[in-house]
Amino acid sequence: MPSYAFFHNEFVPLADARMGIMTHCIHYGTAVFEGIRGNWNGDRKQIYLFRAKEHYQRLYRGCQVLNIQLPWSVDELCRITVELVEKCGFEEDLYVRPLAYKGSESLGVRLHNLEDDFLVFAMPWGPYLDMDKARCAVSSWRRPDDNVIPPQAKITGLYVNNALAKTEAVHNGYDEAIMLTPTGYVSEGSGENIFLVTNGRLVTPPIYSSILAGITRSTVITLAQEELGVETMERLVDRSELYTADECFLTGTAAHITPVAEIDHRRIGNGEVGEVTKKLKQLYSEVIRGNNPKYLDWCTPVYKKQTVK
Ligand SMILES: Cc1ncc(COP(=O)(O)O)c(C=O)c1O
Repeated sequence: MPSYAFFHNEFVPLADARMGIMTHCIHYGTAVFEGIRGNWNGDRKQIYLFRAKEHYQRLYRGCQVLNIQLPWSVDELCRITVELVEKCGFEEDLYVRPLAYKGSESLGVRLHNLEDDFLVFAMPWGPYLDMDKARCAVSSWRRPDDNVIPPQAKITGLYVNNALAKTEAVHNGYDEAIMLTPTGYVSEGSGENIFLVTNGRLVTPPIYSSILAGITRSTVITLAQEELGVETMERLVDRSELYTADECFLTGTAAHITPVAEIDHRRIGNGEVGEVTKKLKQLYSEVIRGNNPKYLDWCTPVYKKQTVK
């Protein structure tokens, strides 16, 4: 199946979308990216883009931080993405990668006096953390605070921090890293937000714990409240709370909801997937595939012809 990209203002085969070696963002990490899921619904022969609008709104906030101006509105970027995915014609779960970047072929560390550009491509992609239960470790790498590099923006240069943490974890035999804030509170995974279940409530670090305001995180908070009557406390989380939680899971566009069985060699709960995690995982997988009418507004159908069962 050929893949396409929207690059330099037009749709081109992915293989033809090439950047010059002097492009600013390659050298200085001066780009903002997003990750959007396209979820395949086999019964309806449809792909649903999940919360595409919120992803582009977040991209815009990142562009504001990096002084990037795009000539398209959020709605136009959503339309470009739908057209791209439709053109690719995939019939499986996929991942869409938009990138807003400093596109001048010019060296020199700065954000000003540079041209801005935007690209997006789609590719088939199954679950990112491909295991039933993840084994995690607290990383020796900390998240930066907002005055170092704002973690609220998905700035490509920032992700060296995440890559250091991820590779350290994998080289030490774990699946994922859990990073702490500069002052030692729990922040997030290298590509996911983190939730604990304690005394029947969800607990998750707040925005000021150097986290990305995850769209899956906000989805889970809503589903827990609306569908399970489970409240979420957004508050500072101590490291040792990770060890004593009843349940723990990671959330992200790529990773969906991934249960955590073990952190720093401590078993979480009984080491099996907990009841709250199980229910949220089930709800989430129905919602993202357009199978829950209450949340259909979050799902943008890609293909014009669709089979309704
Ligand atoms: C560092 C980080 N935290 C959290 C998330 C989860 O965010 P979302 O649920 O919007 O994908 C991501 C993924 O985008 C991420 O890269």
